[in-house]
Amino acid sequence: MAKKRILSGMRPTGPLHLGNLHGALANWKMMQDDYECFFFIADWHALTSDYDSTGPIQGYAMDIFMDWLSVGLSPEKSTLFVQSHIKEHAELFLLLSMITPLPWLERNPTYKEQIAELKNKDLSTFGFLGYPVLQAADIIMYKANGVPVGIDQAPHVEITREIARRFNHFYGDIFPIPETILTETPKILGIDRRKMSKSYNNAIFLSDSPEEIQNKVSQMITDPQRARRTDPGNPDICNVFSFHQLYSDQETVQRVNRECPEAQIGCVECKRMMAENLIKTLEPVREQRAYYEAHPDMLRAIIEDGNHRARGVARKTMEEIRTAVKI
Ligand code: TRP
Ligand code: SF4
Repeated sequence: MAKKRILSGMRPTGPLHLGNLHGALANWKMMQDDYECFFFIADWHALTSDYDSTGPIQGYAMDIFMDWLSVGLSPEKSTLFVQSHIKEHAELFLLLSMITPLPWLERNPTYKEQIAELKNKDLSTFGFLGYPVLQAADIIMYKANGVPVGIDQAPHVEITREIARRFNHFYGDIFPIPETILTETPKILGIDRRKMSKSYNNAIFLSDSPEEIQNKVSQMITDPQRARRTDPGNPDICNVFSFHQLYSDQETVQRVNRECPEAQIGCVECKRMMAENLIKTLEPVREQRAYYEAHPDMLRAIIEDGNHRARGVARKTMEEIRTAVKI
């Protein structure tokens, strides 16, 4: 039986961090063997909010692509591409915009939240309101059966399903209705114990140097009840311990779990061990990245190849669509 097809994308708004690694990336990486995967950089989507400062977008796109390859997304197994290089997305976006009722977009919870959150930006634009329409074009262009996303993106996939149904209703049964495949939220937090996010300035990036990692780990907030070295701590509520569970061996995890509540180990020592293991874990990622940084032609060729494959699929779908719409 043919493999089911999945598709997902990321906006190029900055380099990827450990939250992305244990969330989206780990999930995508696993899916590569069981599904036919399309992963892409949604650079047009980045424009919807950053239209007044487009300078960094291309650089971020390259950063993310290198992050993808460095953690093991495979250009052989998956089609990795850049949205703005496949102009067909813009054409399908236009056609879908004709059939998308405005109220579907206006009641989109993400839309309302973002407008409220980013008060310093003028987001009362056509493009920003149409964000989910472009996303629907991204998804149905490849006739994706599933879309792995975090919970924050679930409303967008829901709108995609509605748009796909409406298209099929008007023009014939062309698109599968894609399923939302929810990505679990990683249990590690940022160094300040809030959700790890580049906009909170609390993230450890995949591309951070060992020194940067050490420095960030030393600033991590631990069990807030443990003010003094002699106070007992509680690993279960300590973010550093969550990191240990991901990056340290079983023996170290057990030692911390035993000694912290007895105040036999101090946070400085505990963090030092964790940082060391984290740095070691990320070593191969840093090496891969250094390789692509030293071989930009190789990176470009990989992107071109992915674009080429995506474009082939997109062209075929657009031909089918033009026939169906009779335009
Ligand atoms: N909106 C998504 C995000 O911000 C990115 C995205 C664009 C996407 N098009 C997509 C995700 C299609 C999944 C499928 O994370
Ligand atoms: Fe957290 Fe380690 Fe300190 Fe315990 S010793 S509170 S686990 S940093």
